[in-house]
Amino acid sequence: MAYQLLQGKKGIIFGALDERSIAWQVALRCHEEGAQLVLTNAPVALRMGEIKRLSEICQAPVIPADVTNMEDLENLFKQAMDHFQGGVDFILHSVGMSLNVRKNIPYTEANYDYMHKGFDISAISLHRVLQTAYRLDAINEWGSVVALTYIAAQRVFPDYNDMADAKALLESIARSFGYHYGIKKKVRINTVSQSPTRTTAGSGVKGFDGFIEYAEKMSPLGNATARQCADYCVTLFSDLTRMVTMQNLYHDGGFSFTGVSHAIMEMLMKQALQEQK
Ligand SMILES: NC(=O)c1ccc[n+]([C@@H]2O[C@H](COP(=O)([O-])OP(=O)(O)OC[C@H]3O[C@@H](n4cnc5c(N)ncnc54)[C@H](O)[C@@H]3O)[C@@H](O)[C@H]2O)c1
Repeated sequence: MAYQLLQGKKGIIFGALDERSIAWQVALRCHEEGAQLVLTNAPVALRMGEIKRLSEICQAPVIPADVTNMEDLENLFKQAMDHFQGGVDFILHSVGMSLNVRKNIPYTEANYDYMHKGFDISAISLHRVLQTAYRLDAINEWGSVVALTYIAAQRVFPDYNDMADAKALLESIARSFGYHYGIKKKVRINTVSQSPTRTTAGSGVKGFDGFIEYAEKMSPLGNATARQCADYCVTLFSDLTRMVTMQNLYHDGGFSFTGVSHAIMEMLMKQALQEQK
């Protein structure tokens, strides 16, 4: 159902690769809610991905930008402002990548070049995006920025590897820049901590199926889907959440505050009984 919550608003969506991407679902929902969009992704991802299809559905231009490249980001914001004939009202940062994860390197043996690269793409990029927007005065008053994160920033999920550290940095940047942008222009900046979701980035994590199964059984409401995450992002881009900023907001069906669930206890008890036999 659409409520026209974003009627008249303009936004930039980073990170839609294919239909499974959280950013793809966010773009669709923002479009349904009346927003005008610009889509962006790394040049290499644009060649591989299916973003053209999304761009047609949303009637949104695609402007390539590598989030680690300041020239690309400046060009993106300038072109987006030309397209919108003014500033933007919201930004989704839905970007993440760890080379250590990709190459199956254990956390305790991290390659530091890969770690730097991963932090740059997954976390410092939010600072780069915000600094570029701040300098160009590209975000309108009461604008809203959302970056996607995961609970491994607070609690250990061993196979999430150095992405956990990247997410902790991302959340900190959202808080720190949220202060400065709030003072300057009442722009709000939050992170949304999403349930594990089957996407290209998600499925790259070792043991991902176990992750998803465990979270499903531990969450009173079950895992949140990408579509439901998109619904939540729409509310954060809307005028209904104007006083929410510098927060890490859990969108995880209650996982983050559940100590243990009956479903997990039953599984463990069954296993213990079998071991006794
Ligand atoms: N899938 C999950 O389980 C899950 C859970 C919580 C949070 N998240 C976060 O959601 C966000 C989106 O991931 P997703 O799961 O939709 O996967 P995805 O693979 O669809 O999206 C990741 C995106 O990052 C883009 N990207 C990578 N390097 C880039 C660069 N240098 N410049 C510009 N873009 C670049 C990719 O092209 C891709 O579009 C990520 O931050 C991820 O960590 C995912």
